[in-house]
Order: sequence, then structure tokens, then C-alpha cells
Amino acid sequence: MNITFADISLAKPGALAVLVTEGAALQGVAADIDGKLGGALKRAVKAAGFTGKSGTYVELVGPQGIGASRVLLAGLGKSAAVSSAGLEKVGGELVGRIGKTKDTALAIVLDGIAAPKLPAADAAARVAFGAKLRSYSFEKYKTKKKDDDAKKDVKSLTVMTRAAASARKEYAVLSKVAEGMFLTRDLVNEPANILFPAEFAKRTKALSKLGVKVEVLGEAQMKKLGMGSLLGVGYGSQHQSQLVVMRWMGGKTGDKPVAFVGKGVCFDTGGISLKPAASMEDMKGDMGGAACVTGLMHTLAARKAKVNAIGVIGLVENMPDGKAQRPGDIVTSMSGQTIEVINTDAEGRLVLADALWYTQNRFKPKFMIDLATLTGAIMVALGKEYAGLFSNDDKLSKQLGSAGDAEGEKVWRMPMGSAYDKLIDSRFADMKNVGGRDGGSITAAQFLQRFVNKVPWAHLDIAGTAMASPQTATNQSWGSGWGVRILNRLVADNYER
Ligand code: BES
Ligand code: MN
Ligand code: ZN
Repeated sequence: MNITFADISLAKPGALAVLVTEGAALQGVAADIDGKLGGALKRAVKAAGFTGKSGTYVELVGPQGIGASRVLLAGLGKSAAVSSAGLEKVGGELVGRIGKTKDTALAIVLDGIAAPKLPAADAAARVAFGAKLRSYSFEKYKTKKKDDDAKKDVKSLTVMTRAAASARKEYAVLSKVAEGMFLTRDLVNEPANILFPAEFAKRTKALSKLGVKVEVLGEAQMKKLGMGSLLGVGYGSQHQSQLVVMRWMGGKTGDKPVAFVGKGVCFDTGGISLKPAASMEDMKGDMGGAACVTGLMHTLAARKAKVNAIGVIGLVENMPDGKAQRPGDIVTSMSGQTIEVINTDAEGRLVLADALWYTQNRFKPKFMIDLATLTGAIMVALGKEYAGLFSNDDKLSKQLGSAGDAEGEKVWRMPMGSAYDKLIDSRFADMKNVGGRDGGSITAAQFLQRFVNKVPWAHLDIAGTAMASPQTATNQSWGSGWGVRILNRLVADNYER
């Protein structure tokens, strides 16, 4: 979908939508249009009982007296309550609505609806951003083209505002966030026969065009580094495990970087502790953490963020096989700590153990945040609304909370402590990789913390939010792209020079 910004004009063909606030449905541009239509809009508003409540629409198809093939009024609710999120939603909804019609061109008019804290340019850019996010689709494996004349995706969107020039500038930044999210969505949606560790690593190399330094470590290099925990997970796979290090150095030279670490299990069968068949296909999304880190690095580099940022992703495939690791096996991590593998399906933490240790020791970051589709238990606790946040640092947790609220990617802080930690002590090794059913997401986080030294650290359990997402106005994709927005905002608000 091509997005442009322009001054307000009513001469365009295609669908024309005017955003209106509650109680002011027929003012400004809407009144001009009504004049051209000989009062038809006013009659439609009356007949429909339309008042401009948020999420309500009134639509006139094939009106006479105007170039547009249809005219819509889109309700935003009370003027004082208009928010960025509400504007994104209406942008998304309009693209969804018009996508179900013959129209392929859409113009959205914003005229004088700016809320107190939301300048007109911001408002217009947010509408465009919501429309853009909604326009994503993953259809590359559908070979049979739908030849349905009545249903055509929106190909061009014109956002009409008196602040077109500054809206264009605002949107230029948001479009980089959308690009990063789309990359994350694409990676999560790809099936595991296509996106195995080496292929994922290859795709990260495209970031070098944006100025990201990309290094790929293979199994031999990881073995030299002593990454026995990560490597054990991939023993049963025909595919080589990979560790990818992405570096964006947009900050001051010598300034400590911020670091993001992602779980990249390209497919999780559970290994010898094999998962049941039901919904196992969803485990192609078990690299959602790595996909988010990759999308985030794209966004930071594409918008030339003034920050030094590191992205590290551990890419493996967890398969059962004659060479696979067994329950009861003891592996030695890069930290030197030994781990008794009780359950080969608790593999994400084994990957992150070495990736976290490597990241903190090599880069000495300001903070380290990992993202992982780590536990089914986090969905039992929080559903798909919130990601689980586990942290050793109150300041970082607060910053993540605010960034998440602002972007609509919410996090809920979960407890940690020594009583949970002792549940993963092992009879035979320094620790075991599961702590029993109770508090499963917490003991997983405690396990990770054993590989984190003094650095401020946060773990986001995104098993509920990264994939199999509920469809919303701005996301119709299975892989949601969750995490790019919150982390980009965290950096933008707190860590750019
Ligand atoms: N990748 C799964 C967690 C998961 C489950 C993510 C469903 C998304 C949807 C993880 O590797 C796993 O298998 N966790 C186990 C841990 C258990 C063996 C301690 C789980 O959650 O059951
Ligand atoms: Mn697993
Ligand atoms: Zn997993």
C-alpha cells in the first residue's frame, strides 16, 4: 500500500472518509461534502443515528455530486479523548473496510480533530501508521489468486490534512517502525522447512544495507566458546545451530551499548520429551524472540537511532533423533555452570543461558533485555493481553512499563526470588532446567537469571503475544510483530543521545 500526505481536496476518485468527533459529525469538511451532495450526508447521519461515537461509521455508496465512489464518516468519540491509539485503530479499520469493496484508493480527511495533546501532524501520521500496520499480509505461499472483483485491497492511501508537510516527516519515522514489525511478522509466519537456523541467519545479513554489522557464528565457533547449553538443543537436528550478532553503532563512540537477546528456536518439537501433536505446528513461531530482536535492529538502523545497540539471537532447531540430547543429560554452559536437562522441551532457556552470558561478557551493556516464547504457563497467567516481565531492576521495569503502555504492547511484572530459585537446584549438577509445574514461567526466569551478573536485566516472556495473535484493527497477521514497538520506544524515550 502506497501512502501519501496531501492538502484537503474533495476531487479525488475512490473512497473518501472523513474523521469526525462525537457531537460534531457534520462540521467542517463533512459540511462541505454534505453541501455538494444536496444534504444526502445529513439525511444518512440522521437515518443511521450516527453521532460520531468511536468505532462507528456511516457510509454513502455512489453519491451524486462528488468525484468519490463512496463517502464515509468515521467516528472518533469525544474530542478530548482522541488518542494516538484511537487514530491508529480508525486508520486500520478503514483499510479493512475498504479492502472488502471494489475500491482500491482511499482518502482519509483529518480536519480540525486534533486533541489537546496531539498536534494535527501527529494525528495524521498515526492514522497512516494504523492503516499501514493493517495492510500487512503474508500470502507468498498461496498460488491460487482470488479473482473476486468485489474484494480489492487498498493500494493507495492519501491522508489529507492541513499539516501535510509535517505529517509526512512524522510518518517517515513511524514507517521504519512498521518496516521492522513487518520483518518480525514475516520471520514468525515463515514455516520451519524454509526458515531453519542458517536461512534465518542469512536473512539477518540484509540488515547490513542499513549499516548494521552482522556476524554469524557456526557450531565450531560456539564449541570453542564453550556453549554446551545452546549446542545441546540442536544435537537432534539436521540443521546447524547459529548465533547471530547484530551491531548498530548510532550513538557516541565508546558509549556502552544497550543489548537485546532473542530465543530463536526455529522449530520446537520438544525433542526427546516430545510434544503432543495438537497445535504443534504453532512451534514454527518459537523463534519469535529472535524475530523481534531482528525487526528492532532494522527499525533502529533504518531510523538512524542515536544509540549503540546490540542484538544477539540464538538459532536452533529442537528435534528428536538418535543424536538428540536425552533427559538426564548434563551439559556445561559457557559460564562454566552445569545443567541437568530434565526435560528437553525446556530448551529455550538452554539457548538463552549461553546467549545471555556471551552478550554480557563481550559487550558489557548498559542493560540486557531478552525476549522469548519461553513458557506455556505465561498464557495461563496473563492470556494474550500482556507479556510477562521479569527483572532484577526497578528502573528498567518502570521504563518498559511506560513504553509498553504508550505503544499498546503491555507488560506485567512478575515476582522473582530465592524461594523460586531453589526449585531449580539439581541433585546431580549446578541446576536443572525445569522446576516443576508450579510457577513455571517464574522458575524459567530464575534459570535465566543464573546467567546474568550485575547488569540490569529484563526477560520478556512473549509466548502469549508473539504468535497466534487475536486479530485486531491493526494486526491481522498470525505473527504479531510484538516487541518492536515497545523496545523502539524504550530506546527513543530513554537511551538516545
Ligand atoms: N516453546 C515452548 C513454550 C510455548 C508453548 C510457546 C506454547 C508458545 C506456545 C517452550 O519451549 C516449552 O516447551 N516450554 C515448556 C516448558 C516445560 C517443559 C517446563 C512448557 O511451557 O510446557
Ligand atoms: Mn519447548
Ligand atoms: Zn520452545
